[in-house]
Amino acid sequence: MTWCWRRLIVSTQQDLWIERLQGGGLDRASWVLTERPDRSRAALAVYPKTRSVAVSLAKKYGGQVRLVKLNEWLKPNNAKPIVMGRRLRIVHETAPGKHDPALPQLHIPHGVAFGSGEHATTLMLLRALTRHEAWRETTVLDLGTGSGILALTARLFGARRIVATDIDPEAVRTARQNEALNFPGPLIGWRCSDVKKLRATSRQYDLVVANLFSGILCDAASSIAGCVSRGGQLWLSGVLRSQQAEVVVAYRRQKMKLVRVVSRGKWMMIQLAKK
Ligand SMILES: C[S@@+](CC[C@H](N)C(=O)[O-])C[C@H]1O[C@@H](n2cnc3c(N)ncnc32)[C@H](O)[C@@H]1O
Repeated sequence: MTWCWRRLIVSTQQDLWIERLQGGGLDRASWVLTERPDRSRAALAVYPKTRSVAVSLAKKYGGQVRLVKLNEWLKPNNAKPIVMGRRLRIVHETAPGKHDPALPQLHIPHGVAFGSGEHATTLMLLRALTRHEAWRETTVLDLGTGSGILALTARLFGARRIVATDIDPEAVRTARQNEALNFPGPLIGWRCSDVKKLRATSRQYDLVVANLFSGILCDAASSIAGCVSRGGQLWLSGVLRSQQAEVVVAYRRQKMKLVRVVSRGKWMMIQLAKK
């Protein structure tokens, strides 16, 4: 079980809300922002561990508090699938219907962990993953895995070895369940850990993906960059346009070379390579 605080917000104010939550020390809680096409309001849901945090959010900002049962993620959901041409399809409902075996597909139910694929920060990474080649030679580290969506996509495409981490045990649990939902057996190494506490280990990866707040990306730049193998790539998302320069400077200091920046609205994805 976990708690949920939810309210509607004006879509154009989402950055303000994210900053508010970060400022309020809620960067450890999972949050989900659901934008609805043609609607001026988006639904913001935060999943703190305790009722008292959810209640204090409601006192401060209005909105509703409710208890979420962990099996809620199994409930049917009618959200539209995410389709990236013939390269990837992500469905959310419990009974996804007929599946074209020639079209790579993942089933990621909407749940307590961030990462159903709709958010711009996830979409940019997903798109980049669908364009990556040579998966059989690629080892992957997914930092801040949420629902596991990026790690699972890497598995779907045949990555050689995958490790995925999240600070939130509920996210790790959900991600593991999502692996079981999509594949016959476990393969991904799921870890519950804080990127800020990553040790400079000897283990390095060909591709490191991290969809995290820019403050965390900057604070942990040295250890995150340390996980990338020589000639490997680092793809960072969760960065607002106004934060891009600061993030690039932090990683250039770690001898990472800027390869490409992709934007979607106010969100940026930064692709870097290790010299
Ligand atoms: C924006 S979500 C990204 C989820 C998914 N990877 C995606 O791209 O949709 C960020 C995730 O990072 C996790 N997170 C936040 N701070 C973290 C930290 N310091 N260390 C590890 N994970 C963290 C959150 O629990 C959340 O699941």
